[in-house]
Amino acid sequence: MSNYHIKHLEEYYQVYRKSVREPENFWEEIAEEHFMWRKKWDNVLSWDFSKPEVTWFEGAQLNITENCIDRHLATRGNKTAILFEPNNPNEAALHISYNQLYERVNKFANVLKAQGITKGDRVCIYLPMIPELAVSVLACARIGAIHSVVFAGFSSTALATRINDSDCKMVITSDGSYRGAKTINLKGIVDDALKDCPCVKTVLVAKRIESDINMEAGRDQWLQPLLDEALPVCAPEIMNAEDPLFILYTSGSTGKPKGMVHSTAGYMVYAAYTFKNVFQYRENDVYWCTADIGWITGHSYIVYGPLANGATTVMFEGVPSYPDFGRFWEIVEKHKVNQFYTAPTAIRALAKQGTELVEKYNLSSLKTLGSVGEPINEEAWHWYNDNIGKKKSPIVDTWWQTETGGIMITPIPFVTPTKPTYATLPFIGIQPALMDENGNEIKGNQVDGRLCIKFPWPSMARTIWGNHQRYKDTYFSAFENKYFTGDGALRDEVGYYRITGRVDDVIIVSGHNLGTAPIEDAVNEHPAVAESAIVGYPHDVKGNALYGYVILKDTGESRDQNNLRNEINQIITEHIGPIAKLDKIQFTSGLPKTRSGKIMRRILRKIAHKDTSNLGDTSTLLNPEVVQDIIDNAL
Ligand code: WTA
Repeated sequence: MSNYHIKHLEEYYQVYRKSVREPENFWEEIAEEHFMWRKKWDNVLSWDFSKPEVTWFEGAQLNITENCIDRHLATRGNKTAILFEPNNPNEAALHISYNQLYERVNKFANVLKAQGITKGDRVCIYLPMIPELAVSVLACARIGAIHSVVFAGFSSTALATRINDSDCKMVITSDGSYRGAKTINLKGIVDDALKDCPCVKTVLVAKRIESDINMEAGRDQWLQPLLDEALPVCAPEIMNAEDPLFILYTSGSTGKPKGMVHSTAGYMVYAAYTFKNVFQYRENDVYWCTADIGWITGHSYIVYGPLANGATTVMFEGVPSYPDFGRFWEIVEKHKVNQFYTAPTAIRALAKQGTELVEKYNLSSLKTLGSVGEPINEEAWHWYNDNIGKKKSPIVDTWWQTETGGIMITPIPFVTPTKPTYATLPFIGIQPALMDENGNEIKGNQVDGRLCIKFPWPSMARTIWGNHQRYKDTYFSAFENKYFTGDGALRDEVGYYRITGRVDDVIIVSGHNLGTAPIEDAVNEHPAVAESAIVGYPHDVKGNALYGYVILKDTGESRDQNNLRNEINQIITEHIGPIAKLDKIQFTSGLPKTRSGKIMRRILRKIAHKDTSNLGDTSTLLNPEVVQDIIDNAL
């Protein structure tokens, strides 16, 4: 029996049990049968969460691009690998076949080499959703360079922090980008960032918008002429299983962003295996994930997972609202999309527009719908199920994280009965545990607690770049011998999981993780601000929005509050990006603090939620009197 493609529920339970009882045999079989290795492993798994140290397929050698491209050429050379749909619907879509992808990746890899990039070097990729983004990711992997993709919506300051943290030698960007009706000067943002990045020696610039931009002599080069000269074949660098494949930054509750490091072999095996099962991809299907490759969803489920399975993966440059809110459905009809994977925030925004723009299009090609990034609320789930899936396409509510590399808790479509707002069952090989506040595992059903994973899986991040101690402190210290996710979850009577949300100071806004500390730091940069605290509150489209409580310095002069609000949001935009702007800013004379000086966010959160019935005991606060004042002036 091949365990690679699960087709019914008994099979799921059978394979799941095997993956838990004999994890090494299980993953060895998957790895052996479905991938191309230059050398097989000596040891499937060794692990110690107390260090933490995890290795999968140690001793094996491979190159992930041989698995994603080369091995498909004989049977799928003319099949579309990447289907690029431009921002402007009147611009033709581009079908890049596996043969063409091979040539593009190899040429790009040769350009990287010619520019002095070698195995282990870090390359920052700051590109819009154009084919060069996927190609540059794969070109890095071809030569063993570690890519660090930074979402092109981040500001120059955020970009510089990420470039410096991992000492990137090169930045790959474009002259600009299209986002709906807007044109963004991406290269200008890179120029700003690089004022503070001495490590960067070279910038390669793809042409997208034909604008006149500054090219710094000795540093910046147009990409196309270099590609034109490059040879079309580049031998893949032979990588060890545990060599880092990429770094991807994610926000923590405190401190600077964490550069999560993913391995080569384990990541590949798990991304590919989950893709196959969670989307039930069949040979001639067209699969579309609307995420940006700047996030983990794009890494695993636009690039690596689909390509490792020889799939056709759609890359969409634009936004769901341009030229109107029917764009997603127009694309589904045009390319006869079979699997569609998006985020609850997009579903809510589209649901707000009614169904007129949905009914205009033929969505009958759809077989499976996916959701990722935040809990999907019941209303959005039903709207998606009724209007997009027409109650025929199962919704896979996939729970996972940048750190997990691949989908962890999810239904398998046509296999696991779905239940609105539930991510349902652990994926094969995943052993979740719910923990109580005293560090004990909560057994049985109909319980809730903090979600941990108690056994390693192949695609778990191996460390935080340059800071293994932080990796240990963040993920392996809260509960002994377990990976702590930072999420809360409940388990229902049949063992289905429902993710209830973050239990730390990370807030998920429109599916983007935002740590409160870096935003507070940005707010505090405003010369008029003395102190600030940021919490999340429920928002009907974004899931959560940000509420800032700000104490102003007493300068004796009075300022227009709306101007101040705009200025504060401007600083946030410069430091982090527009996604981190505050929806509400309340100016206050004080913040509730414990006697040791810690801000009581729990109280601030309740006020922002307009739920002040039970604030708990506030008498032990240093300054209990500010609480009523904040409630009276709440927005
Ligand atoms: C949240 C995205 C509920 C969760 C792949 C997690 C979800 C964080 C779901 C990771 C889901 C992701 N249901 N919550 N289906 N998927 N989350 O690193 O809080 O961008 O910890 O990875 O998003 O976000 P990240």
